[in-house]
Amino acid sequence: MKFSGINLLDELQKSELTDLRDVFHSRSAKKGAIIFSPEQDEDLVFIIESGKVRIYLGYEEKEFTLGILEPGDLYSSHAGCFVQALEDSSLLVTDVQSVKRCMAEVPLFNRTMVRVLGKILQNAFSVIGGLAFKDIYARLTAYLLKEAQESGVPFDGGLELELDLTIEQLSQILGATRQTVSTLLNNMVREGLVVKRGRSKWFIPDLKALEDVVNT
Ligand code: HEM
Repeated sequence: MKFSGINLLDELQKSELTDLRDVFHSRSAKKGAIIFSPEQDEDLVFIIESGKVRIYLGYEEKEFTLGILEPGDLYSSHAGCFVQALEDSSLLVTDVQSVKRCMAEVPLFNRTMVRVLGKILQNAFSVIGGLAFKDIYARLTAYLLKEAQESGVPFDGGLELELDLTIEQLSQILGATRQTVSTLLNNMVREGLVVKRGRSKWFIPDLKALEDVVNT
């Protein structure tokens, strides 16, 4: 997550920003340590000085990683996330009020914030998508695997599969909308699980990979 070599850490070293740099203090964290968690009150903003930090949501035994932050990235403790050191790390920490000054005086601060939040949002969309479509995805991959095992024709190290179904008909079989099934098929193509070879003709390059997806 770098910005053409210049990051917030380099920026804060500029001599004209010495007093702004002084509003931050260093906090170190050992590998694996939870640095912030959603229930705590501290309202702080931090810049990663060294190491790597994971931002994630945690519910009971489930965890959803929203981003891995690297030196020069920034985040806040008031975002309802867990913040964990993936390596021995050091953070530059300050209070939210001081950050308002940074926002006014350091344009790179706002650019970095947009970049980091954009990345986190992108990952959040993918988590939401995964949760919303998980059942349909499981049905779609299981259906394709069964069809491939029963009627796939060996070709070029994989299997060729003539489904003889429109997306509309496939969607009705899976109990999903046409749009959802198209999106999920496109994801499968992007992941290399299937290759589209015609209107309803598919190539499965690696049956084992599809089996692994179905069985996880
Ligand atoms: C790069 C990460 C972030 C930074 C640097 C940051 C910084 C700030 C700052 C400086 C304020 C005070 C604004 C003001 O008083 O004028 C603020 C307020 C707020 N932030 Fe963040 N923030 C970040 C991420 C987030 C995220 C991810 C969320 C939510 C998931 C969030 C939720 C809020 C809320 C709700 C307020 C308003 C709080 C209130 O007025 O009581 N922030 N943030």
